[in-house]
Amino acid sequence: MLNFTIDTETCIACGQCASDCPAMIISMETGLPTIHPDLEQFCIGCMHCVAICSEGSVSILGYGPQEGMEFSKDMWPEPEKMEALIKGRRSTRNYQERNVDSALINKLVEVASHAPSGHNDRGLLFTLLDDKGCVFDLREKTFEELDTLIEANKLPEGMEMFIDISNAWKHSGKDILFRGAPHLLIVSASEECASPLHDAIIALSTFELYAASKGIGTIWNGLATLTISEILPSLRTTLGIPEDHKIGYVMGFGLPAINFKRTINRGAPNINRVTSI
Ligand SMILES: Cc1cc2nc3c(=O)[nH]c(=O)nc-3n(C[C@H](O)[C@H](O)[C@H](O)COP(=O)(O)O)c2cc1C
Repeated sequence: MLNFTIDTETCIACGQCASDCPAMIISMETGLPTIHPDLEQFCIGCMHCVAICSEGSVSILGYGPQEGMEFSKDMWPEPEKMEALIKGRRSTRNYQERNVDSALINKLVEVASHAPSGHNDRGLLFTLLDDKGCVFDLREKTFEELDTLIEANKLPEGMEMFIDISNAWKHSGKDILFRGAPHLLIVSASEECASPLHDAIIALSTFELYAASKGIGTIWNGLATLTISEILPSLRTTLGIPEDHKIGYVMGFGLPAINFKRTINRGAPNINRVTSI
C-alpha cells in the first residue's frame, strides 16, 4: 500500500510528479495526481513525486515534504570547491589512534545511505566497526587466522603476498592489511538486489567524499575485502554479514595523522570520443 496522498488544498495540478515518475504510474486524468491501485506494485519508492512538488502537496509511503530538507542549488558547494574535494581527497594510511565522534560517524553513514541504487533497491547493509578497540581485535584475529593458514600451507593460490603482509605485522608491527585505520565500514547487499556490488561501491564513494569534507580520512581496502570475502570467510560470520550478501568493499576511516598540501597532475584522461555513428 503506497498511501499516495495529495493535499488537494495546495496541489496546483502542474503534473510534474506524473511526468517525472520513472515507473510512469501517476495519472493526471482526474485533474489531480492519482495512482491506480493495480499500478502501485510498480512504484520503486524513489519519492521523486515528493521531492519535485513545488507546493509540498505529495506524500507517499508515509513520507511527506516535512520529512525532507528544502533546498535550492545555491546551497550546494561551488564547482571549485567540489573540484578541490574530488582532486584533494587522497587515501589515508596514517591515522590518529583515537575514535571519531560517534555522532559524526552516524551522520557520515546516514548521508552515504542517500546514494543512488539500482532499481532504488536500497538493500545495503552498512557493517560498521566504530570503536578502534573492535578493529584492533579484528586485526589480531585476522593475523592469527592468516598465520594458521600460512603455516598449514593453505593460502589460496595467488594470495602469496599475504605471507609478506603477515611478516610485516609480526616482525615490525607494520599493518599493511588494515593500514592502521581505527574504523571500518563494510558495505554489502543481498544477491537479490538488482546491482548489489555497484550500489555498495557508489555508497562508499559517496561516504568517502562526504567524510573528506568533514576532515575524515578514508582508505579503500582491497586487501581486507579479499581477506574477508575469500581467504577467511569465517570472518563474515564474526562480523554478522549475512550469508546471502555480496560484499561490495571494505573501507577504513578515521582522523588522519597526515595532511595533503596540494593536488597532483594525473595526466590527461583516456577518452574514447565518439563523434559520429
Ligand atoms: C578498489 C580499490 C582498492 C584499493 N585497495 C587498497 C589496499 O588494499 N591497500 C591500500 O593501501 N590502498 C588501496 N587502495 C588505494 C589506492 O592505492 C589509491 O586509491 C591509489 O593509489 C590512488 O591514490 P589516492 O587514493 O590517494 O588518490 C585501493 C583503491 C581502490 C580504488
